[in-house]
Amino acid sequence: MTDALSALEAMRAHDLPTHGGRTLAYVYDSGLAEADEVGRAAVAAFSSTNALDPTAFPSLLRMENELVGLACDLVDAPASTVGSVTSGGTESILLAVQAARDARPDVASPAMVLPATAHPAFHKAAHYFGVRPVLVPVRDDFRADVAATAAALDELGASAVLVAGSAPSYAHGVVDPVADLAALALERGVRCHVDACIGGWVLPYAARLGREVPPWTFDVEGVTSISLDLHKYAYTPKGASILLHRDAALRRPQLFASAAWPGYTMLNSTMQSTKSGGPLAAAWAVVRTIGDEGYLRLTQEVLDGVDRLLAGLSEIPALHVVAAPDSTLVTLSTDGTCDVFTIADEMAAAGWYVQPQLAFAGRAATLHLTLSAATAAHVEEFLAALGAAVDTAVAAGPVQVAPDLVDFVRAMDPATLTEEDFDGLLSAVGMGGDDGIALPERMADVNALLDVAAPALREALLKAFLDRLSRPVRAAAGT
Ligand SMILES: Cc1ncc(COP(=O)(O)O)c(C=O)c1O
Repeated sequence: MTDALSALEAMRAHDLPTHGGRTLAYVYDSGLAEADEVGRAAVAAFSSTNALDPTAFPSLLRMENELVGLACDLVDAPASTVGSVTSGGTESILLAVQAARDARPDVASPAMVLPATAHPAFHKAAHYFGVRPVLVPVRDDFRADVAATAAALDELGASAVLVAGSAPSYAHGVVDPVADLAALALERGVRCHVDACIGGWVLPYAARLGREVPPWTFDVEGVTSISLDLHKYAYTPKGASILLHRDAALRRPQLFASAAWPGYTMLNSTMQSTKSGGPLAAAWAVVRTIGDEGYLRLTQEVLDGVDRLLAGLSEIPALHVVAAPDSTLVTLSTDGTCDVFTIADEMAAAGWYVQPQLAFAGRAATLHLTLSAATAAHVEEFLAALGAAVDTAVAAGPVQVAPDLVDFVRAMDPATLTEEDFDGLLSAVGMGGDDGIALPERMADVNALLDVAAPALREALLKAFLDRLSRPVRAAAGT
C-alpha cells in the first residue's frame, strides 16, 4: 500500500464505523460484502467520467435512465413519469422546490407549506431559492395536520407553490397523510412533493411483505414529485438519490441551459455541472447486484429487526417509543429519570452510535435510531448495551444545567452576538479554547445546554463552531 493510502486508513480509525451495524445514523449497511465490493469497484471505474454532457458519456445516461425506470416501478409511477439522479436527498428536494417556484413566474412571493417535521433540506431550499416556508405544527402522532395545512394554504392563496409530506419523516419515522395533503394540493393547483428520501427503497417492499403502509406513491392523485435516495436504503455508496416528476412538463423548470457566454452551452438537469459518474455507476451496479428479491429480503430482515427492537424496548421501563414506526426508524424518549444525552454517551463508549435529537416545539429531546439490515442481526446485543446505558444514566440522573445558565442562554439573542461572544460560549461548553476547536469526548453537557437554547441560538452557535472547525491546515507551521 502506498504511504498516502495507509495514511488515509489511519485517519479513518477515528471515524464512525460504516459497516457492522453499530452506527444507527448516517450510514446504511446491507451487510452484503459482495454489494459493497461491487459499489467500490464501480466508483473507482467511473470516478473520472463526467456527467456534465450525457452525449459524451452515454453510459452514464443509460445508467441514469435505467435507475429512474426502476424507481418508477417502485413508486407506482405512470408512464408519463420522468426523473433525474441527483447527488443526494438534499439536492433532490432543492430541485423539487426550485422547479415548483420556477413553474410559477407569476407569483411574486412564493411560499411552501411544510409539516414542522419536514427535513431541513426544505429550509435550505427556502434559503437558497427565496421560497418562504410556512410551517404547520404536526398532530400528537407527529403526522402532518391536514386541517391546519388546508388553513395555511387558504391563507397563502395564490402564493403557495408547494405542499410537502414525508414518507417517513426522519425525526419520528412516521408517514404523513399524503393522500389528504395531495388532495389539498390538487384542489388548489399546487404541487405536492413526497419526501421519500429515507423510505423510498423500503416502503414498497414493506407493502409487498404484507405490512401496512399508508399511501404515499404516485398512486395518490395529486402527488407531483417524489424524492427517494439510493444512498440510503438501496445501500449504494454515498452521492446518489432520485427525483421523479409525474410528467415531463412538471420537470421542465428544473432543466437549466446557458448559452450566455462564448464557451460550450451549459445544459444540466441537476445542480452540479461537472459531476462524477462514480456514484451513479456504483448505484447502478449495487442495485443490479442486490436485485429486487435481494431488497425484499433486506427489507424483511430490517423490519424483523425493528419488531425485535420494539419488543425488547418494552423491557426497558425508563424508555418509551415516541411513535409506532411506519418504517425502519425508531425514536425513543425517557420517562425523566435519565436523559437521552447521557444514554448516547454511554452507548458511544460501548461502541454504538445513536443520535440525540434536541427538544423542539415543546417536546422533549429524543434518541434517533436508523436501523439497517446489518443492524438487524445485532438487535439483541444492541438492546443489552442500551439497557446497561440506561441503568448508568438513571444512576447518574438527568444532566443538570445550572438555572442561571439556562436563564442566560434563553435571554441570548443570536443576532447581537459577536465573534468574541461565540468564542466564549464555545469554550464554556468545552467546544473550543486555547487548544483549538474540538468536541469533548462526552457530549451530554453540551447537548443539555443546546437543548435549552432556542433553535436560532443553536444554529448560530453551531455555525460559529463549524466556522472554527473548518480552517485550512497549512503545510508549513506559522504560514
Ligand atoms: C426524510 C429525509 N429527507 C431528506 C434527507 C436528506 O438527504 P441527504 O442527507 O442525502 O441530503 C434525509 C436524510 O436523512 C431524510 O431522512
